[in-house]
Amino acid sequence: MSHQVLLDLQAAHAFDAAPLRHDLGVYHVPFGELTGVDSPEDRLRGVADRGERTVVVGLPGSGKSSLIQHVLGPAADGVAPILVPVSGEPSDLAGNVQGVAGLIIQTIVDHDNFPERDRTTALESAASTRLVPPSARTSRLSLGGAWMGAELKAAVNKQVPPTLELPRTAQASLEVVDQLLTIIKADELMPVLVFDDTDRWFRGDDQHERTAQAFFTRVLPELRERPAGLVVSMQSSYLDDDTLSGDLRATIETRIDIPALTSTEALARVLRSRIVAHAGDMALSQVIDQVAVERLFDLYQTDFTGALRDVLRTTHVALTEACNSRFPTVTVELIDQAVSW
Ligand SMILES: Nc1ncnc2c1ncn2[C@@H]1O[C@H](COP(=O)(O)OP(=O)(O)OP(=O)(O)O)[C@@H](O)[C@H]1O
Ligand SMILES: [Mg+2]
Repeated sequence: MSHQVLLDLQAAHAFDAAPLRHDLGVYHVPFGELTGVDSPEDRLRGVADRGERTVVVGLPGSGKSSLIQHVLGPAADGVAPILVPVSGEPSDLAGNVQGVAGLIIQTIVDHDNFPERDRTTALESAASTRLVPPSARTSRLSLGGAWMGAELKAAVNKQVPPTLELPRTAQASLEVVDQLLTIIKADELMPVLVFDDTDRWFRGDDQHERTAQAFFTRVLPELRERPAGLVVSMQSSYLDDDTLSGDLRATIETRIDIPALTSTEALARVLRSRIVAHAGDMALSQVIDQVAVERLFDLYQTDFTGALRDVLRTTHVALTEACNSRFPTVTVELIDQAVSW
């Protein structure tokens, strides 16, 4: 019986360390509940409601995207999150105001029913620096929530009619962005521009630091002037650079840090959320031994340097081995084996 549960969880990829964005929000256990400290969920929600500018900071794999997707995902009432899909984009767009403005326009308009041919024409003229044709893109554009109702769609359509040639200068493109954001605002929604996983964007570039610098010094100051909230996520290491963190402080009002989990129980809740999502309500111990969870928490605090992603990856490997070896649960030996694998 227990072994069947393990097989089902394995078949469902229940401990997938890099789930789809939508699933991140489903699995998310609020850090406020896990750590008992000032809830980052409440803070991010408040910042979004008020249209403020914030940076979400954390170690790699610690939960930045999970937090953003949970708070600004499909259920974000009254907020229109505009999740600008940065990680699939050419990195030199990151430092280019016109390119980023084009991406924002594209993200908003892509939610609409533009005929494909007209949309491509309009967007290419908005973002004349685009290097990759839409068909070759690696990531789909998506909005953070299903916020655009039929009326709003019609208004946006009118603003950027399919036949309109969009402006070629950065300033004029920003004006189109502003018009679109103002339409969204008029619909009693607070638009929030979300730039998640920015470092993945920069990292695709040899000129890594220069691109990051250009994004912080040239692009963010322009974005702060838009009639919208702004959420940027980044790995903590960027703040070690004094120039970058200075530039960031000039643009951003609030900083939200991803808190570290401080107990085995908190980690157990994260692991259990995966089991409940795929196999229904059951105790964690039916799947993972308590000693194994304790070992995972040790690793989280030491070798994994706060990366929940590494905890999940290790659990996934150990579960696969438990299935192959017909173990009834994931044991500490399997965890150790998975780490050295
Ligand atoms: N609070 C949480 N509750 C449940 N699962 C979480 C939580 N935080 C993170 N996770 C899980 O940990 C993994 C890593 O999280 P996430 O992708 O959000 O990290 P990240 O900080 O955005 O990483 P990166 O620096 O690579 O962008 C994901 O599988 C996610 O589901
Ligand atoms: Mg992320």
